[in-house]
Parts: sequence; structure tokens; C-alpha cells
Amino acid sequence: MKVVVGITGGIAAYKSPLLVRLLVKALHEVKCVATGHALEFVTPLTLETVSGNKLYSDLFASNNDHTTEHISLKDWGDAMVVAPATANIIGKMASGIGDDALSTLLLSFSRKPLFLAPAMNTQMWECPSVQRNIEYLRSIGVHIINPVAGQLACGTSGTGRMAEPEEIADTIESFFLNQNIKINARVLVTAGPTYERIDSVRFIGNYSSGKMGFALAEALADCGAEVELVTGPTALKVSNPRIHRTDVESAREMYAAATTLFPSCQAAILSAAVADYRPDHTADHKLKKNGSEGMTLQLVQNPDILATLGTMKQDGQKLIGFALETDNELANAQSKLQRKNLDYIVLNSLRDKGAGFGVDTNRVTIISRNGDTFTTPLLSKRQVADDIVRHCLL
Ligand code: CTP
Repeated sequence: MKVVVGITGGIAAYKSPLLVRLLVKALHEVKCVATGHALEFVTPLTLETVSGNKLYSDLFASNNDHTTEHISLKDWGDAMVVAPATANIIGKMASGIGDDALSTLLLSFSRKPLFLAPAMNTQMWECPSVQRNIEYLRSIGVHIINPVAGQLACGTSGTGRMAEPEEIADTIESFFLNQNIKINARVLVTAGPTYERIDSVRFIGNYSSGKMGFALAEALADCGAEVELVTGPTALKVSNPRIHRTDVESAREMYAAATTLFPSCQAAILSAAVADYRPDHTADHKLKKNGSEGMTLQLVQNPDILATLGTMKQDGQKLIGFALETDNELANAQSKLQRKNLDYIVLNSLRDKGAGFGVDTNRVTIISRNGDTFTTPLLSKRQVADDIVRHCLL
């Protein structure tokens, strides 16, 4: 595939050559377009050497046939990614402004796959006008590769750091792979943790970040599926307009949403880390210390969403669950699959460093009803999601 990499003037531009290198390594042809400010951070020589192609940055440069040089890239490229994307280029794109080679090219690229990897200071990222622009670009189909939390160049830490080049390259790679796969179905996905209230300020929760479920929703939507994403509390955002999101807090709210949506879906993938128990009573005020050394919370069992969908399942519907096991992993997962009437169960590995809660990578074993197993290597959660979708839904 032919990929145009746009680079704007943020410190994360020092990582752009690595992204170009990864795309070239994955056998894509790459041409770079940089703004004048980007070239304060990274040199034309670096970008030309890693891409193996000439750099475009001059709005008025012309081709030999007297056509405008940078505009010719709109026909050349199969996809385009801007990494890093500053608040400035995001604002220009959302407002239809073209005042340099990159912004002008972007205006003409709107009918092809376009990816943005924003990078900026946290306050800038959270600025309402930047968020409005991002939401607008999402709504017209631009793929936003969300910035992550971490140490920022300005010395503070927070959300705003550009996603790592590996994640950006994976997202583009997955998109190309999924282009040839069409899932014409409505799929329910549950994601994230649940919070079970103790009183007005406290809850029982878990460390699930929701990343696996959100990656599944994105993978499905990229294949054309309509996705009903029911998620517990998480800061994650979705970027595909085919994902319809329902936010819930507790297991019982997730149960109500999932059981309502399931009958209109052809498949369901339940990746949420649902609390098995909740306090039997929620105080409507903040509980005070009562003077004694200890405290006992009485818990009652939550409904099992996956098992309930297993009893509701009709012919033609597929049900996929997750399992997190510490002992007798395969046998326990297999018995869970039978007990809950599933078609597949995805066994999460707790033994691998880099797999599980909070991290960006995972390694899973997919077990089918007839006992066949398929184990992925340690991959990004997005790549694991692609594997699950291909294995279980095609
Ligand atoms: N699950 C669910 N509703 C619950 C509990 C779990 O839908 N109340 C789903 C999870 O989303 C996951 C699967 O069940 O897909 C497995 O969850 P897990 O905690 O591993 O298993 P449990 O069924 O809770 O069994 P156990 O705690 O005995 O291992």
C-alpha cells in the first residue's frame, strides 16, 4: 500500500522517522509531507532517507508537467496519517483551511482513509475547542489514534503524548487487513470494569482499563460491523461512528443494557471484568468510622451476564466470553464454555509479562466449542482483537 505520512511541528516529530521506518518495513511505500515547523524538529535528509522518497513541504513547488507537486499525492496515496498532529493542524482540518502543502493536501484527501495521531500538552488536548474539532473530525470518519498519558516534553505529565509509532503502524496495518474482510452484522461488546457502590463516595472496582473491549469494538467496526459497546467506567474514547456506546457503572446496569441489546445482535463478545459481588446495601451518605477496629461489608452476588445471554441465545447467534484463570487454565476455561453455552472462550494469560489489565499488549488462547485451540503471540491489544474477530466471527 502507499501511505502518505504528514508531520507537523511538535516535539513528537522526532518519532516520525521511526513510524516511517515501521511502515516501510511492513512493505508499504511511504512519502512524507512536512510543515515548515515540523522541519524545526526533524530534517528533510532523515525523512528522505528512511522513506526512500523525496520530501514534500513546499506549497508552490510544481511537477515537471506543471501540476502542483504536493496535490499529486492525493492520487498516489491509499491512506494518509498525520503523526504528530498538533492542535493547529487539527483546527485547520476541522475548519477547511489550507495554507501550506500539508493542510492543502489534507483537504483533498478527505475521501480516503485518514489517520491522526494527536500530540500536545494536556491542557491543549483538553481545551474545549480542540475536543470539539476532534469530535467533528471523528464524525466525518477520520480515524483518531488517541494520545496516551505519560511524561510530556513540557515537564508535566498527563494525556497528550503521541501514541507510540508501533501502535500507529499497527492501527494502519489492521485497517488495511480488515479492508478485505466484511462483517455484515450487529455485534454486542461489553468492556471495562464495573463499580459497585458502597456509599456516596466509595465503590468496589477492579483494574480493568477497557482497552481490550474497545480494541474489539474498533476491530469489528473497521470490518463494517455495527457495534453496540456497553462499557463500565473508563476514560477511553471510540473513534468509529459505527460504534454505538452505552455507558454504565454497575454490573446490574451492564446486565440491563446487554440483555436488552442482545436479541437484535448476531453476536456478542463479553470482555468486561464484571464484579461478581456487590454490597447488599448502598448508603446514600458517606459512611463514618464507627469507632470499632474492623468493618464488615455484606456482599450479594451479581447476575452473570454471560450465562444469561447463553440461555437467551438463538440459532444463528454467536456468543464469545473471556476467562481469566490461574489454575488448570484450559480445563477451567473449557468447562466455563460448556456451562455458559458459549461458541468460543478467550483465555487471558496471566503468566505472560505484558499481558492482562492496564497494559497495551495481550496474549490469549481462543478455545472453540469442539475443543480446538488457537494461541496468539504477545501482540498489541488491537492485533489480538483482529485475531479474535477473524477467528470467531468469519
Ligand atoms: N461475566 C459476566 N457477568 C458476570 C461475571 C462475568 O458477563 N457477573 C463474564 C465476563 O465478561 C467474562 C466471563 O464472564 O466474559 C468470565 O468471567 P470470569 O470472572 O473469568 O468468570 P466467572 O464466570 O466469574 O467465574 P469464576 O469467578 O468462578 O472464575
